[in-house]
Amino acid sequence: MTAAEELKKNAARAACEAVRSGMVLGLGTGSTTHHALVRLGELLREGRLKDIVGIPSSLATEKTARGLGIPLGDLEAHPEIDLTIDGADEVDPELNLIKGGGGALLREKVIAQASRRNLIVVDESKLSPRLGTRWALPVEVVPFACAAEKRFLASLGAAVRLRVRDGRPVATDQGHWILDAAFGPIADPAALAGALDRRAGIVEHGLFLDLAHEVIVAAADGVRRLSRPS
Ligand code: A5P
Repeated sequence: MTAAEELKKNAARAACEAVRSGMVLGLGTGSTTHHALVRLGELLREGRLKDIVGIPSSLATEKTARGLGIPLGDLEAHPEIDLTIDGADEVDPELNLIKGGGGALLREKVIAQASRRNLIVVDESKLSPRLGTRWALPVEVVPFACAAEKRFLASLGAAVRLRVRDGRPVATDQGHWILDAAFGPIADPAALAGALDRRAGIVEHGLFLDLAHEVIVAAADGVRRLSRPS
C-alpha cells in the first residue's frame, strides 16, 4: 500500500470508531471511504458491530458494501441517517467541501442532508485555504442542458470541461453528465452555490457548505479531528 493510501486508511478507520451498533449509516463514495467500508465489514464479521443499515451513495459503493457483507437499506425505509462517513476532494478552514470527483455528488448531498452527523475522511493533501484552489468544481447537468450550462459556468469565470471517458461523456448513476468547472479560488462559495442552485439544467453541484460536522485528517504524523467552528 502506498503512503498516500495508508493515510486514507488511517482516516477511514478512525471514523469507524464513531459507528455504533443499531445505527443507520450513510456510506460515501471514493477511495478513502472504501477503507471505511472494509473496516465496517471487519467489525461486523468480528461481531463488534451489529444491526447496522448502510445507505449507499452510489452503485459502486452499493456493490462494494454488498460484497463485504454490510446490510443495506434505502432512504425510503430510513429517511433519517444517524451518521455518514464520506470523503472529499477539497476542504476549507470552515469545513466547507468540494465533492464529486467520483461523480456521486447528487446522492452524496442527499445523504449528507439527511444525516444527523457527517464525518468527512481525508488525507492532508485535501486541505485548502480556499475552495477551488486545488480542484475544479463538479457540476451535474441534464444532458439536454449541457451546452447552455457550460456557457453559463464560463460566464461566471470558470474554465469548463465536460467529463469524458473513452471518448464519451461520463454518465452519473442518475444518467446525468458532469461539467468540471475550474474557478480557481472561490471568493464567495455561498453566492456561487446560490447562482448554481437557480439554474434549471444544473441538477446539483459539488459545493457542500455547512454540511460537514467533523473532518478527520490523516497526516504522516498522525490523525487529527477538525470540528466546524460554531
Ligand atoms: C465522490 O463523488 C466524491 O465526492 C468523493 O467522496 C471524493 O472525490 C473523494 O474521493 P477520494 O476519497 O477517492 O479522494
